Order: sequence, then structure tokens, then C-alpha cells
Amino acid sequence: MNTLQITNPFGAPVYHEETVASTMDTARSLAAAGAAHGTVITADFQTAGRGRIRGRPWLMDKKINLAFTIILRYNGAEAIPPALTLRAGLALAEAIEDFAPALAGRVLIKWPNDIMLDSKKAAGILTEADGAAVFIGIGVNVAQKQFADELREKAASLSLALQRDICAEERFVLLEIFLGKFYRELKGADWKSRLSGRLYKMGEPVIFAEGAAGCGTEFHGRLAGIGDGGELLIEGEGGARSFVTGELRF
Ligand code: BTN
Repeated sequence: MNTLQITNPFGAPVYHEETVASTMDTARSLAAAGAAHGTVITADFQTAGRGRIRGRPWLMDKKINLAFTIILRYNGAEAIPPALTLRAGLALAEAIEDFAPALAGRVLIKWPNDIMLDSKKAAGILTEADGAAVFIGIGVNVAQKQFADELREKAASLSLALQRDICAEERFVLLEIFLGKFYRELKGADWKSRLSGRLYKMGEPVIFAEGAAGCGTEFHGRLAGIGDGGELLIEGEGGARSFVTGELRF
């Protein structure tokens, strides 16, 4: 396995493969073999990349987008921090704006795991856990210029938003910025206010489908913010409710 020569403040290696099934699976194998907290595996291409909802595939063209998983280990001495997916999203949103300052103010977080550029999805986060190991997988549409018909109205990329080409190596500049931000994010405690400032549809009317697969009953209300554990707060006619699993629909 190759190692990328980028700075990882976690002090662990950043591995790179041309092709893997899913960086989530590679990360699990690395963790089983003893990989350290903060180890990263990134790949140019995934043959079986997966998304959060119902195992939906995460498709990516070869070598133009960023796909990686970071391994976090909490072995009893330290509790797993709350709202990890959202805080990873916050670090990623801020990293995208540092990488491409022209996008400042346009990078939003759609609860619980999507990064939006204006109103289209540019990145997704998949968090899995296995005992004391947590795997945070991130896919960012970096230089993709075309999307399949069914995604065209919903998907964004940094290249399309910036109206410029982004070369393959720049993906790892974004990764390096993300690692710096995420490392600091895990040490800090001020994530809720910054997250609220970037919350997609904050204060607006929303429809929320409850349940693990987002297919339960619908709740209508106004998106009111995020709770201390990362739960979504919605004010409806009968009062405020908080949700841990489910999906926002508009
Ligand atoms: C989603 O939006 O549903 C989450 C998408 C997560 C995709 C990333 S790409 C790197 C990592 N490996 C995977 O198989 N999935 C995540």
C-alpha cells in the first residue's frame, strides 16, 4: 500500500490505493490489523463504494473525486465524542471553503451527513462503528463535470461550482486541509453554533421522515437546529421534537 506524503495531525499514515472495493472495508481490515487512531485510507476508485441509506451505492469516476475513510479509536480511556458525523461534515465544509475561498458562504450541511453546495449535494459522509473503532467515510465530488441523468438536478461538484478544472493531485490538498480541521474539531466544543450557522434549511419549513431507513411517518415543521448529541430539532404544530434517525424531505 502506498503512503501519501501529506500532513496528518493525528500522527498516523495516509494510505493510498488505486482501486479498492470500499475504503470502509479496507479501513476495517487495517483496524483489525492494528492501525492507529487517525489512520486514513484513500482510493482513486471504489468498485463497491456505499452510501448511508439502504446500502445505496456511492459511484465515482476514477481519479477525479476524493474518497477516503479515517479510522478513529476510542479504547475506554476516552468516550466517543458526540455528533461525529456532523462534526466531520463541519470540518469538511470549512475545508472546502479554505480550499476554494470563492465558495465561501455556499457550503451547507444537510442533516445528518450531506454537504451541499447551494442546494445540490457535493459530498456525503458514512459513519460506521465496530466496538471501540469508528470509521468515517467521506466522498467528495471534486472534479466531476457530468452526472447521470437521475443525479443531474441533485448533484454538485467543486469543479462545476468553481467553473474550473481541478487536477487529480489537488484532491489530496483538500484531504490535508480536512485532516487539520477535523483534528481540531474533535478537540473543541464549539461545534454546535458553527454547525447551526451552516445548517441547510435552518428556520425553514421541512418534512422529516422518521426511522432508520427514512421510511417511517412524516413530521412537518420548521427546522429549529441541532441538539447537544447532534439530534435534529424540528418545531411542529404540537411542539418541538428531536430526531436521531430519519431523513429530511423537502
Ligand atoms: C452518503 O451520502 O450516503 C454517504 C456517502 C459516503 C461515500 C464514501 S466514499 C468513501 C467511503 N467509502 C465508501 O464506500 N463510502 C464512503
